[in-house]
Amino acid sequence: MIAIEVVLGDITQQNMDAIVTAANESLLGGGGVDGAVHRAAGPRLAQAGGAIGPCAPGDAMPTPAFDLDPPVRHIIHTVGPVWRGGGHGEARVLASCYRRSLRIADDLDALTVAFPTIATGVYGFPADQAARIAVATIRSTPTNVQQVRLVAFDEDSRQHLHTAVTAARC
Ligand code: APR
Repeated sequence: MIAIEVVLGDITQQNMDAIVTAANESLLGGGGVDGAVHRAAGPRLAQAGGAIGPCAPGDAMPTPAFDLDPPVRHIIHTVGPVWRGGGHGEARVLASCYRRSLRIADDLDALTVAFPTIATGVYGFPADQAARIAVATIRSTPTNVQQVRLVAFDEDSRQHLHTAVTAARC
């Protein structure tokens, strides 16, 4: 079974085969976690994103990791849902982000993948619900990925992820 761990930290500092970024549809870079990933990977990332984008909400697309330190070899760009109260398919789109990212990881032969808490910043998805969707989707998606690291950027997010992982084990 896939191993899921939760850490508090910066997605750009994770020693994994691939890291996921919470992008916007253009894949040209943005603020938040995507800004950090673009700063760490360097300007070639926006060029590569522009060449493959746009990316629809719920979908995911890969690029090389460029200037990020090895062993990170790939960046998986996914676009979360903008939270509009929960009645506009937001949960379905967020689940799709995790599922599609794992499929891309399989295509890349990435065995270890780090995810940020997609859509919980600028896009406004409630962190507790997002954590439950992340864990449930990762657990129910058939994949060759062996290790997923869920990276929280603040203690509240870490707590929500920890609760979701613990509940899913019961
Ligand atoms: N490492 C890990 N997590 C981070 C980092 C980082 N370096 N920086 C921010 N985060 C966290 C935020 O605290 C938040 O919990 O990532 C989570 C997602 O927040 P956003 O980056 O705002 O992503 P999202 O809500 O999906 O919004 C995407 O923001 O910057 C734009 O271009 C991006 O338009 C897109 C939108």
